[in-house]
Amino acid sequence: MRALKNILVTGGAGFIGSNFIRYLLTKTGSFSGKIINLDALTYAGNKMSISDFENDARYVFEHGNICDRELLESVFKKYNIDTIVHFAAESHVDRSILGPESFIKTNIIGTFTLLDVARNFWKERNDVLFHHISTDEVYGSLGKTGYFTEKTAYDPRSPYSSSKAGSDHLVKAYYHTYNLPVTISNCSNNYGPYQFPEKLIPLMILNMIEDKSLPVYGDGKYIRDWLYVEDHNSAVWVILNNGKQGETYNIGGENEWENIKLLNRLIDITANKLKKNADKIRGLITYVKDRPGHDRRYAIDCSKIKNELGWKQSFDFEKGLENTVDWYLSNKNWVDSIRSGEYQLWVEKNYNNRK
Ligand code: NAD
Ligand code: DAU
Repeated sequence: MRALKNILVTGGAGFIGSNFIRYLLTKTGSFSGKIINLDALTYAGNKMSISDFENDARYVFEHGNICDRELLESVFKKYNIDTIVHFAAESHVDRSILGPESFIKTNIIGTFTLLDVARNFWKERNDVLFHHISTDEVYGSLGKTGYFTEKTAYDPRSPYSSSKAGSDHLVKAYYHTYNLPVTISNCSNNYGPYQFPEKLIPLMILNMIEDKSLPVYGDGKYIRDWLYVEDHNSAVWVILNNGKQGETYNIGGENEWENIKLLNRLIDITANKLKKNADKIRGLITYVKDRPGHDRRYAIDCSKIKNELGWKQSFDFEKGLENTVDWYLSNKNWVDSIRSGEYQLWVEKNYNNRK
């Protein structure tokens, strides 16, 4: 029987990680263990994303970097960690193109360090689990048809996806070589509250609020498979409880959208809430230079987790988008805290001059 008592969540101040901790504390009913959130608070980590549960007795925050072996060793010892949910990563494809080094450090060296500390601490234990959060981008790009399955060969194209692929391989190597109990999940595009506004959906919502241009890469016909963040996290919870050691599980929305069609739907929803004219907002759409190495289509076959572990999505896209737009409209402090700082400077330097 798996312990699931002292869960180390890495990257729990980021988008999916903070939503995961919130899910564990509020939606799983029976969770009575301890959650240790280890996060370096990079530009993507935000204390405001975790302030609603900071006083929960089941929760503690540790500020630190997953590349810091000594710190990891002390955290494992102090809290007697028995489960790891490893979200911490550099996560944005565009940033990986502009500067890949931090992706190699965190995603590859950081994951290696975490695996190695876990192996030394757990030794031969079999009631523990290292769950690695990964992405469908490791599988590369699809044509018009077909789906990524757990057996699809890896074919990453960006520094981001290559670094995630490297981390996945290390996790598998620690399973096969050292018998470290591991599971991996490869998920499609998430959206929802607390997502950093460099990613497509929050970027577009905030630009609509401020009447700024809506930059669409290339011809806008790139396809992503969108999943509401809580559905990703319910899948992770199912894997933690019932996933089989050494297995990979694909997680997806079965919800493919061309970027331009998604943007038009988002414009309708946001215009309605802002009481603005949707066609006027549509006039802000600007086709800009394409992302180098842009993957054309992602689509996930998630039948394995559905059939073997009984997971399914529970948010339809319309409801998820509504929730997301509502959240960005009613969390101005969170938005302002991000938009006023280092991010704004980064946008001005790297994003605003795109043509
Ligand atoms: P995010 O960028 O919003 O958050 C990343 C978090 O990790 C931040 O809190 C940051 O401070 C922390 N972090 C970064 N480097 C660190 C380090 N060296 N040590 C400790 N903490 C560090 O990312 P996200 O979108 O929440 O993604 C979380 C995970 O899910 C990533 O592993 C990503 O690859 C994966 N994933 C994301 C998506 C998506 O659509 N966002 C989809 C599939 C998989
Ligand atoms: O598929 C899972 C991946 O989804 C995760 O592993 C990544 O961490 C996450 O960032 C996301 O990667 P994408 O590159 O798909 O997400 P992004 O939001 O950056 O872009 C989504 C699509 O929208 C993509 O085709 C590029 C396009 N795009 C993006 C931005 C930021 C635009 O057209 N304009 C933009 O301004």
